[in-house]
Amino acid sequence: MRILVLGGGWFLGRAVVSGALERGWEVTTFTRGLSGIQVPGAVAVHGDRERAEDMARLAEHGPWDAVIDTSASELSPRAVLAGTRALEPVVGRYVYISTVSVYEGWPSEPLTVDSPTLDAPADAGPEYGQLPEGWPGPDTHYGQQKAGAERAVTEAFGLTRTSLLRPGVILGPGEYVGRLPWWLRRAERGGRILAPGDPAKSIQPVDVRDVAAFALDQVQRVGHQVHNVTAPVGRETMDGFLQACMDVTSSSGELVWVTDEVLLRSGLRQWTEIPLWRTHPGVWAIDSSSAIAAGFRSRPLSETVADTWTWLQQGNVPVPHQRWDEHGISPDKEDAILEGVR
Ligand SMILES: NC(=O)c1ccc[n+]([C@@H]2O[C@H](COP(=O)([O-])OP(=O)(O)OC[C@H]3O[C@@H](n4cnc5c(N)ncnc54)[C@H](OP(=O)(O)O)[C@@H]3O)[C@@H](O)[C@H]2O)c1
Repeated sequence: MRILVLGGGWFLGRAVVSGALERGWEVTTFTRGLSGIQVPGAVAVHGDRERAEDMARLAEHGPWDAVIDTSASELSPRAVLAGTRALEPVVGRYVYISTVSVYEGWPSEPLTVDSPTLDAPADAGPEYGQLPEGWPGPDTHYGQQKAGAERAVTEAFGLTRTSLLRPGVILGPGEYVGRLPWWLRRAERGGRILAPGDPAKSIQPVDVRDVAAFALDQVQRVGHQVHNVTAPVGRETMDGFLQACMDVTSSSGELVWVTDEVLLRSGLRQWTEIPLWRTHPGVWAIDSSSAIAAGFRSRPLSETVADTWTWLQQGNVPVPHQRWDEHGISPDKEDAILEGVR
């Protein structure tokens, strides 16, 4: 098998490249060569997805059985459309890493793979879906852009040669967003640790290596495949997750559970100030049964936690990213909230 990975220097892209090489496949990666670390063994081609001449030059390195597109998180549908058209003659199948943010109902209601998605044209520019300053509702700009990109990919490759994979939160070795690494460092520091909401709340993070394996499996699929890629509802809990962080770090700390009501009153930024804490009822109600039926397997979250800790302990550092600094509550603020629940 010969595949092209758009991206490959960071987190999911790296896991896809490593997984493909382990399967004995030939891998070409395409990045600008500005960030991240390439996996040895892959052929690296450099260029910018937003430049038509670079995409035309990339196509000359083909043909490939499939492309796995992991690097389009900040690319407009218009740029994705132009790139897919350049690659279409030399690529068999397009596997696009999308997101559950494409759904109209995310994060407020339970979702299945048939739930309505946001509407965005295949040639939408980067401004499409931008919300006015101070918009009170959830920010749907990212979801609109990814929904338009899904449409672009499907338009260029047709319904017979596309896989659209919609992961929820991805964790694991190499994470650069700062969610699991923050919780691990917090557990390691010890003391009274603010544990958010209901300990029994179901959560659905998915391991980066499992998303990568499923994306690679898609290379040999046929037809139009669309799947949500999350851990099953009800298998993992917030308590299980935090206990795993305490265990692997041999934490001397104590988890102090604070209700959603108290946290909401304290004005904390959901999702980031306390990573993975969000009260919207649809956040962790994503049905991934179609992926499971298609062979997707997600390992226990405790394994993801343990392997990420090992990865950090080995001195590895995530690729520098602006989202990292958004994550985590300050010690003073955490103490002040915990003082109120003594
Ligand atoms: N993290 C989550 O929880 C989550 C959840 C759901 C979905 N997703 C999706 O999963 C994917 C994440 O992949 P990843 O973060 O692991 O990163 P990745 O696939 O490695 O992609 C980032 C790579 O893309 C390259 N790149 C960025 N802009 C480029 C451009 N204009 N032209 C060419 N290359 C470019 C970067 O290298 P250079 O800087 O060297 O160009 C970097 O190597 C995204 O599509 C995201 O929407 C993530």
